[in-house]
Amino acid sequence: MTSNPSFIQTRITDDRDVRTELSTGLLEPAARISPKYLYDALGSKLFEAITCLPEYYPTRTEAAIMQAHLGDMARHIPAAATLIDLGAGNCEKAARLFGALQPAHYVAVDISVDFLKGSLGCLQRQFPHLRMSGVGMDFSEKMDLPEELQMNRQAPCLVFYPGSSIGNFTPEQALRFLQRIRAICSNHPDSQLLIGVDLVKDVAALEAAYDDSLGVTAAFNRNMLLHLNTRLGSDFNITDWKHVAFYNTQADRIEMHLEALNTVTVSWQSDEGKRVRRRFLHGESIHTENSYKWTVERFTTLLRAAGFAGAHHYTDADGRFAVFLASI
Ligand code: AVJ
Repeated sequence: MTSNPSFIQTRITDDRDVRTELSTGLLEPAARISPKYLYDALGSKLFEAITCLPEYYPTRTEAAIMQAHLGDMARHIPAAATLIDLGAGNCEKAARLFGALQPAHYVAVDISVDFLKGSLGCLQRQFPHLRMSGVGMDFSEKMDLPEELQMNRQAPCLVFYPGSSIGNFTPEQALRFLQRIRAICSNHPDSQLLIGVDLVKDVAALEAAYDDSLGVTAAFNRNMLLHLNTRLGSDFNITDWKHVAFYNTQADRIEMHLEALNTVTVSWQSDEGKRVRRRFLHGESIHTENSYKWTVERFTTLLRAAGFAGAHHYTDADGRFAVFLASI
């Protein structure tokens, strides 16, 4: 029997809410924009380019860990599970698991179901017998998987959250997020979480990964302003802004900012039809991303605090990145 992927889009935040969120962030004394606005069509391509950069070690290190240990992981993961892929994107990472894990149902979740339509359609032709569903959903705030998915309640779940995307959350947010994943797992027998986490390491290596010599990360960060110009109707001039990335040792995180190269005034249209203005002084910045780094010990503690029990972890020889397999 050959399946066809089914697609579900949960409520998309409307434009008005997006504009309010962006406007509020820009008007705050320390201006900030959520990193999710880094990913318009061009931003997603720039991120893919980042993953190919010599300085950006996380993607290839995680792939090598997965390749080296997939056989061992598979011995701990029951077959015929429902594989829930959070932030599936092109579905490439999950597809590499199919052979060893033999899931019964693949659920790809991403903020945009449109992107999933292309990748999942393609994947279904490669794996004609695997049941596949695409869900368009913003899972960063809550995680109500739609009923229409008709997930098999008797089948174990494997929640897959690779790439160290958990690094975008503060430790408090990460705890709540993991608790929500645990709640899904607890509704199904023998469920587990497979998650990639970037580790604390020397500052020079971290900073190079987020400020590469080709300037791709700079383009990725600055592109956010182009995205804002379309979403908010603002008049940011890209050449007024420079990319800044540094490691904050107190908070254990990379911070990305956009710093004004002169004193600039930016304006955009409010929903009431008025023109809103914000002046940025030379050197003032907009905080665009945090990427938290963990130690194996601290992440193990976090998993426990979220209610996960046994956690295996796998790392590369240099201890740059870790993949955790946690059960409840
Ligand atoms: C997609 C959040 C894992 O934090 O490393 C890459 C995003 N930002 N370079 C990361 C990112 C700048 C990335 N995550």
